[in-house]
This record gives sequence, structure tokens and C-alpha cells, in this order.
Amino acid sequence: MELFQASGLTCLLIPTAFFVTFVLLLLRASGRRGRRLPPGNLGLPVIGETLQLIAAYKTENPEPFIDDRVRRFGAVFATHVFGEPTVFSADPETNRFILQNEGKLFECSYPRSLCNLLGKHSLLLMKGSLHKRMHSLTMSFGNSSIIRDHLLVDIDRLIRLNLESWSDRVLLMEEAKKITFELTLKQLMSFDPCDWTESLRKEYVLVIEGFFSVPLPIFSTTYRRAIKARTKVAEALSLVVRQRRKQCEAGARKKDMLGALLDGGGGSGFSDEQIVDFLVALLVAGYETTSTIMTLAVKFLTETPRALAQLKEEHDKIRAGKYPCEGLDWNDYKSMPFTQCVINETLRVANIIGGVFRRAMTDVNVKGYTIPKGWKVFASFRAVHLDQDHFKEARTFNPWRWQSNSGSTTPGNIFTPFGGGPRLCPGYELARVEISVFLHHLVTRFSWEPAEEDKLVFFPTTRTQKRYPIYVRRHDASGQCI
Ligand code: HEM
Repeated sequence: MELFQASGLTCLLIPTAFFVTFVLLLLRASGRRGRRLPPGNLGLPVIGETLQLIAAYKTENPEPFIDDRVRRFGAVFATHVFGEPTVFSADPETNRFILQNEGKLFECSYPRSLCNLLGKHSLLLMKGSLHKRMHSLTMSFGNSSIIRDHLLVDIDRLIRLNLESWSDRVLLMEEAKKITFELTLKQLMSFDPCDWTESLRKEYVLVIEGFFSVPLPIFSTTYRRAIKARTKVAEALSLVVRQRRKQCEAGARKKDMLGALLDGGGGSGFSDEQIVDFLVALLVAGYETTSTIMTLAVKFLTETPRALAQLKEEHDKIRAGKYPCEGLDWNDYKSMPFTQCVINETLRVANIIGGVFRRAMTDVNVKGYTIPKGWKVFASFRAVHLDQDHFKEARTFNPWRWQSNSGSTTPGNIFTPFGGGPRLCPGYELARVEISVFLHHLVTRFSWEPAEEDKLVFFPTTRTQKRYPIYVRRHDASGQCI
């Protein structure tokens, strides 16, 4: 009897479910018909235009995928990549709109594989009020006055220490990565370089490799190795957090990022796991980015001797007013206007972060089109930075374009190497200071030439693994070779 009742019920439920689904699909379709999607091509079923995107990034041209579609469809277009319909924007106004509406109309969206490597409590993955609180905590740890009063001394000392250890042939990208890692560890946890920091860095390099691998443990040994390394890094950091927590409870506090996190960051306290994830993400965020810009600045300067000469003149002048081993202070940093032009131009041309992915939280109207709820959007900074309409001879390295007397002005939404809105890079000032100090010691102490066999390509979209070897010659305080 029960069986009969159940199957009778099923007979009734199945057609009802079909009917309801049909009506819902009809309603959804009619809703869609009323909306105007951005123009574009969604490509083949499932794979969409993913293969074209991957093929484009294997060329040395920076943006062939976007350039081609902007020509055909305009600066905002729809495509389908990595299994999802995605709207690309090469339009500064739309990019600004996307960045400013973080948490309201759009939210950050990273693949699960990346979350496994970053840890679920990473700032990059946080949302809502917790993100707001942690973002402002991170901002306060890297702001100008903290850099001026506390961090600059260590930045200067650690960079000098690293450069002093250089031999005649240097793998510049490797050295720059070592420097940025050591600087970040010092700022986060007050560690000076030692065997422990170096072995942590070795594990850490494996984690970073995981970001650039196929994120499938079954197929990719790199990804498997990265996950293992991530566990080791987390264990090592957990130990530090536990020790520091004990010291903190005994009244011994340090004024670094870990100290602020152990204090609770202005709210209720954080667990060890939260703190570790947070630290890992900060190490990721500042490592590859800053070191690549350091290396590429050197590459561009090497290829633009007039810019190198002008930069050297600026730094020699600063050095002339100081004792040979005297460190740089905030006033010195503030008297490097041409250095800032070089950094801006490197950030513009090299675009280490080509753009950011977000997901539409609701149907969003942009430029007369609708981005449907759930679709991905990609705000491309690189496409704007390399657009001839915004930068004359956009693909030429020309630091003079940033000089205040150059006659060109760049509105804030055109040049966005550090993003914007609620997720504006909290390390933007720190990165500038680190690169400036690095360039200061490099140009005042060394001359160099690139080793022929490993030339770094102009646009590092797929080639950031290159190491850029250079031959260096050391100079004394009077500029003589030693
Ligand atoms: C040249 C160097 C750097 C560049 C070009 C850069 C660029 C960026 C960009 C574009 C974003 C925005 C991502 C988004 O909107 O989703 C970002 C976020 C971030 N950056 Fe940087 N960054 C650099 C250096 C640093 C440094 C030195 C640190 C800190 C040690 C840092 C920490 C972060 C963090 C924690 C975030 C996430 C912010 C959030 O989601 O709220 N960055 N960075």
C-alpha cells in the first residue's frame, strides 16, 4: 500500500517538476531576451575560446587575445574562457566601475586550486566586513609613516647586505626574489635572514610554482609538490605564531604585522590558522610582483642608456651628500623624482598583474549592456596601459612621459598597476620604496651588462620564470671600478 502511495506520488511529482522547470527556463529565457549582452563570441561549447586565449599568451605580443576582440567588438566584450562566460573590459571607465563596486555588484573570484595554496583565510579571498577590517590593518602596516619611521632602515640594510654578497655573474631575477622575500619576512615577523628563512624560502618557491601549474594533483607533480610545500610552510609559520603568542602573553610584544595580528587587529582575536593563512598570502602578494618589477626596471634601463644615465645622476647626487655606508632616509626617498618615473613606466609596460577577475553578484548594467549575475568579468589593466589612445607610443619604454613638465597628464583611472577600490594593493607604497632603494644601491655601486644567453623577453606575460643573468662590476664611492 505504502509502495503504491509512494509511486503514485512520484507519478504526480515528476510531471509537476518538469512543468515547473519548463516554466522557469521560459521565464529565464524571456528575461535574457530583454537584456543586451556585450557583443562577442562565446566560442565552442564548454571550451569556449580558452584555447585561443592560451595560444595568444604564448606569443611575445602582450595582448593579442584582447586586441583582436577589441577591434571586432569594442572595449567591452563577452567571451567564454576556462569553463565560464566572461566579460572582458579594456575600458578604463568600466574597469574603475568594477573595482569601485567590489562587494556591492562584483566580488573577487579565484579558482579553488588557488584557494588551496593560499589558505581560506587569505586577504585575497576574504569578503565583507572581515575583508574591510583586514585590508585596513594591512594598509596601516605598509603606510608612508610606518615605512619612514620603521621599515626604511631595514629595507636599506637588507638590500645593501644582499648586493654586497653578489659575485661577478648574477641571476638578477633570483636575487630580486631573495631580497623581496627577506624584506617581507622582516616586515611581517621581524626575522633577519638566516638558515631558517632560507629553507622557508625554498619551500615557498615550490608553493609559488604551484600557482603557474595545471591545478590537478593527479596530473601535475608541480601542483602536488606545491600543496606539500604549502603544508610545510604553514607548519613552520604555525610554530612561530605559537611561540610569539606565548611571548605576547608574557608581555613581550614586537611592533610588526604578526604583533598586530596577535593583538587581534582592532577586533576579536584571530586563530593561529587565520594568522598563518594571512601571512602566507602577504608573502605571495609582495614576492613575485615587486621582484619582477625590480628586474624589468633594470632590463629597460639597460636598453635605454639615456634613462640609466639620468637615473644614475639622480642617485649619485643623493650619495654625494652622505657618508659611504650611510643609509637612505625618507628625505632621500622623496628626492628621487626620476626614479618614480622609471618605476611608473616599468609598471605600465611590464604590467606584472595584467588585470583582475571578479564575479557579478547580480545583473549589472555597463555601457548599455547587461553582465548577467554569476558571469565572470576581467578588468584588464594591461590593455588600458598599452592602448595608444591613452599613452602615446604605448609600447615604448619612455620614463620621461611621467615627468610633470612632459605636458601629458594621466587620469587616475587610466593608470592602475595597483588596482583600486576596496581591494587597492595595500603594499603599493612599500613596493615603490623597495624598488627605489634597490635601484639606488644598484646604480651607485655597480655597472652591468646582460649575459647574452638568457635575454628576458620584453613582455613577461608567460616568461616570468626567466632569471635575467647579468655580469656586474663593482664601483667605489668615487665611481671607480674595484
Ligand atoms: C610592484 C609590486 C606590486 C604590484 C604591481 C601589486 C599589484 C596589486 C594589485 C593589482 C592588487 C589588486 C588585486 C585585486 O584587485 O584583486 C593587489 C592586491 C594586493 N597586494 Fe599588491 N602589488 C604589489 C606589491 C605588493 C606588496 C609589496 C605587498 C605587501 C607586502 C602587496 C600586498 C597585496 C595584498 C595583500 C593584496 C590583496 C588586497 C585585497 O584583496 O584586499 N602587494 N596588488
